Amino acid sequence: MKGLTIIGSGSAVPDQLLSNRDLSAIVDTSDEWIESRTGMKERYVSLSQETLAQLAAKASIKAISMAGLTPEDIDLIVLATSTPDDLFGSACQVQRRIGAKRAVAFDLTAACSGFVFALVTASQFVRQGVYHNVLIIGADILSRWVNWEDRTTCVLFGDGAGAVVCQSSETEDNFLGFELCSDGTLNSSLNLTYVSEPLNLMENISVGSGGYQSINMKGKEVYRFAVEKVPEVIEKALHRSNLTVKDIDWLILHQANQRIIDSVAVRLGLNKDKVISNIAKYGNTSAGSIPIALDEAVGQSLIKPGDVIAISGFGAGLTWGAAIFRWGINYG
Ligand code: UT7
Repeated sequence: MKGLTIIGSGSAVPDQLLSNRDLSAIVDTSDEWIESRTGMKERYVSLSQETLAQLAAKASIKAISMAGLTPEDIDLIVLATSTPDDLFGSACQVQRRIGAKRAVAFDLTAACSGFVFALVTASQFVRQGVYHNVLIIGADILSRWVNWEDRTTCVLFGDGAGAVVCQSSETEDNFLGFELCSDGTLNSSLNLTYVSEPLNLMENISVGSGGYQSINMKGKEVYRFAVEKVPEVIEKALHRSNLTVKDIDWLILHQANQRIIDSVAVRLGLNKDKVISNIAKYGNTSAGSIPIALDEAVGQSLIKPGDVIAISGFGAGLTWGAAIFRWGINYG
């Protein structure tokens, strides 16, 4: 079995800023309500001509450059997204845009848990010695899928992408453990469903034809689920890593609500100066949120080589998971 180390990170958001004050001109809300209930102040949203593949490619190029590699060194691309430009997948468009000619590329859908699920998926290929350099991306443009008349959801989401590059090693292993979970019985708490109408092709033969609706979320249910399940899954991932909460240098949670982040830290007994949060600036960027926060903390030199990082995502499915890794790069 091979070892695995993250050797680069990158992130990208669109240029267009949408503040809480802007939102209060669109729906019946206020800066005060949004900030006090969620911790969000602003977020970035894509223009209609901007694509998921463009955003993901920008983040990827930065991650590959930090890793000291070229796109042609990449063997595998896993793109975690729920908002592809193409329902058949957008990973190959990212591959084309960055020029990763040798890479095999595919999409993975696990909503806001997507980055954690993608990192764990990619790690299996690396451990088995199948692929050496792997690009893992979390990217979403949820502004395409919110109902801009629904104040209970449209104020929460922003667009963005984050990426990391992992490399296999014969001698060093910095991917310490993980735990992934799913519960389809809770699907109706948060979904974006396809609604089908019958289309008669001929007598006695009909098919379905329809489209996707907008995001539907029972906020309180998801809140309660997150506060209960996220500490549990982090504890399990730590146990698998032969570590305890005391060993965590940095906790990076999916950025869905500052109150959830604070509550998870309290439940874990983790000091808040070990918790990374950038929700005020970006809102909830779904699969993008963990790698954007990671990349920002790396850019601010908060994360040092040898630091133990716990990441945890949760969201639609419902899905949730955690991964523990040691930061291996000396970027200073
Ligand atoms: O990324 C996937 C995972 N997602 C999450 O983890 C989200 C989890 N849920 C949450 O973060 C929170 O439940 C929300 C931020 C979505 C909502 O916060 P809350 O404290 O649970 O508020 P609530 O839904 O109980 O609503 C409280 C009040 C309601 O009014 P009444 O019934 O008390 O009169 C809502 O109608 O706030 C009202 N409200 C708003 N008011 C102003 C709901 N949305 C808004 C709004 N502006 N945007």
